[in-house]
Amino acid sequence: MSDHDRLLALIAEAKEASAVERIRDEALEKQKLVPALFASIPSLPPGERKARGQEANELKRSCEELLAACKAWFENQALASERSGAGFDATIPGKRPERGSLHPLTRVTRELEDLFTSMGYVVLDGPEVELDWYNFEALNIPRDHPARDMQDTFRCDPQGNVVLRTHTSPGQVRAMERMQPPFRAIVPGKVFRQETTDASHEHTFHQMEGLVVGRDLSVGHLIGTMKTLLRGVFGKELEVRLRPGYFPFVEPGFELDARCPFCTDGCSVCKRSTWVELLPCGMVHPNVLRAGGIDPEVWSGFAFGLGLSRLVMLRYGIDDVRHLLSGDLRFLEQFA
Ligand code: PHE
Repeated sequence: MSDHDRLLALIAEAKEASAVERIRDEALEKQKLVPALFASIPSLPPGERKARGQEANELKRSCEELLAACKAWFENQALASERSGAGFDATIPGKRPERGSLHPLTRVTRELEDLFTSMGYVVLDGPEVELDWYNFEALNIPRDHPARDMQDTFRCDPQGNVVLRTHTSPGQVRAMERMQPPFRAIVPGKVFRQETTDASHEHTFHQMEGLVVGRDLSVGHLIGTMKTLLRGVFGKELEVRLRPGYFPFVEPGFELDARCPFCTDGCSVCKRSTWVELLPCGMVHPNVLRAGGIDPEVWSGFAFGLGLSRLVMLRYGIDDVRHLLSGDLRFLEQFA
């Protein structure tokens, strides 16, 4: 049998394009049919070499053509059978695309936005890179005031006129500038502090500011609003208590605590006290109303600064604030 015939015999056994490829590798690349022919040339008498060389080239070319044609035939066959639909099962489920889900912070923010808009509040946004004026000065915290030490601030310029907002309270003054009283507004968003991070401290976290400006507002209105807020978040009535709290932009200022939603006799969430500290708040200081262009003789207001990150942690039993912005899918997938 000649080399050529042997090749034909091999091809006759092939059943698909990949088999033809394997034959090609064997016959033309490795030390098989055609390479052996080339290898024999140097050992021939000089007069015969040319003829053998031509023969070998001829064989190589015709083998290649043959193999290419076979491969194309198999490929066409495969395509035709795929197109005919034979063997296609339309009932096999397709691949499901991976689906994302809302971040727990986004969920709680949206829920609270629904709750507050249903009570006539507008939702406002404010810049995360803020002027010192809005973050401190207009909030009754002048340059040399010790209250500035309560919030370790990232400064953006050497003069200290531009800061990363340390709380959402600058939203109070911006709201006053944008709206005519009476009005109600919430300002959810990211805030930044130069913290040493641990399970309960993060340099970037979320708050939701609330501000109501109207006539003759009292601490009673404030407490009523806070109780409604807590009912919305925890789905049940929680007892609250007020402690005095110092914030230069409210007078009087409070820390509003709620009964721990998870226990009756002390647990790790409430640090065995049965109270959780949730809502700093108070009646808007006249200086702040003035800074926002509102006459404190006519109008009064109350404000609160809900710790959104903390609330989300309480709500979902998250034990480390650093999970929230970690981007770790193992954490996020639990909320899908
Ligand atoms: N902005 C204050 C803080 O982050 C909280 C606060 C808001 C207090 C509104 C009173 C009124 O600490």
